[in-house]
Amino acid sequence: MRTSHMGAPAVLENSRQLSKEDIIRLLQSEGKDSERLFALADATRARGVGDAVHLRGIIEFSNYCVKNCLYCGLRKDNNRLERYRMTTDEILETARVGAGAGVRTIVLQSGEDPFFTGDILARLIGELKDRHDTAITVSVGERTKSDYRLMRKAGADRYLLKQETADPVLFAGLRPGTTLEGRKRRLLWLKELGFLIGSGGMVGLPGQTVETLAEDILLMRDLSVEMAGIGPFIPNSDTPLAECAGGDVNMTLKMLAIARLVMPFAHLPATTALASIHTEGRQMALRCGANVVMPDITPVQYKKLYRIYPHKISIAEDGVIESIPRVSRMILDSGRYVARDHGHGGKPVSTDCKTAK
Ligand code: 5AD
Ligand code: SF4
Repeated sequence: MRTSHMGAPAVLENSRQLSKEDIIRLLQSEGKDSERLFALADATRARGVGDAVHLRGIIEFSNYCVKNCLYCGLRKDNNRLERYRMTTDEILETARVGAGAGVRTIVLQSGEDPFFTGDILARLIGELKDRHDTAITVSVGERTKSDYRLMRKAGADRYLLKQETADPVLFAGLRPGTTLEGRKRRLLWLKELGFLIGSGGMVGLPGQTVETLAEDILLMRDLSVEMAGIGPFIPNSDTPLAECAGGDVNMTLKMLAIARLVMPFAHLPATTALASIHTEGRQMALRCGANVVMPDITPVQYKKLYRIYPHKISIAEDGVIESIPRVSRMILDSGRYVARDHGHGGKPVSTDCKTAK
């Protein structure tokens, strides 16, 4: 971020209004300039959402998927993957342990698995809401509006449906049979139904440019997402993108930091994907704007089969009982603390985020 290019004060005062060109320049910043971007994002995070870090416990309850996304290990055509579905009882028990360990949001995540109909999911959500005082995030992909309505009526609070990339051509190429338009339409339905929506995307996809990345930020801002998960693309040898280069740590951190500047009040996770390509990934993300960590609380025998990409960090971790205290310690060691509330967004702790110093 060279002051001679764009003028740092302009960025400081109008970071929520950054133009596409501003964002591209920030993405291209290096050395001291990118350090300054990170520091600014950290200050914006402190003023926008405070020092609390929210734990969202993910239950990966099925690795079946009908889609064939080129980048993802759960793709239908990957026959090297052993598939599983957790039973309702197993899911409820996992949630019980997670809630007992202090998790205030349960994320129900799976591939696109039609076995879990809207009705089944709604019953599960209702049961979870009856038993625990936790927020429920659902992340089961593209569904009908009536399925979404059922889930919302059952008590689901949030829905995570990542845009993945804001480039419509790249999107259609990487996600056969689906379109960016269809994705955006669903995000709008979800909003209309009263969900808090989460989006996000991958950094370093083959064919992606800084222009596309800037569009990603602008799309998340336009959608006023409550949450945005930004992580590096990690090539998976069981997919058609096996030979592609992966996303890099620094570009991912710059995307995260810019997302924070334009969305001071959003929930931005230190993603598992970033932690999977760098041992200090989560800590670095927490210093560049992130305020959420999503520990994987799936039972060990299943989580090792949720192989979206290789070396997923949680695979090396143990069960919930051990992993939550470890993540909590990492958060404290980073000079932050674990939030006790549900962490719904939209309630700014500070109204003056324009001039983060
Ligand atoms: N690298 C990084 N993230 C991936 N995802 C899928 N495949 C990969 C990969 N190879 C992410 C996508 C998707 C979620 C299931 O995981 O963002 O939303
Ligand atoms: Fe299925 Fe989602 Fe993976 Fe695509 S990214 S193959 S929809 S799990």
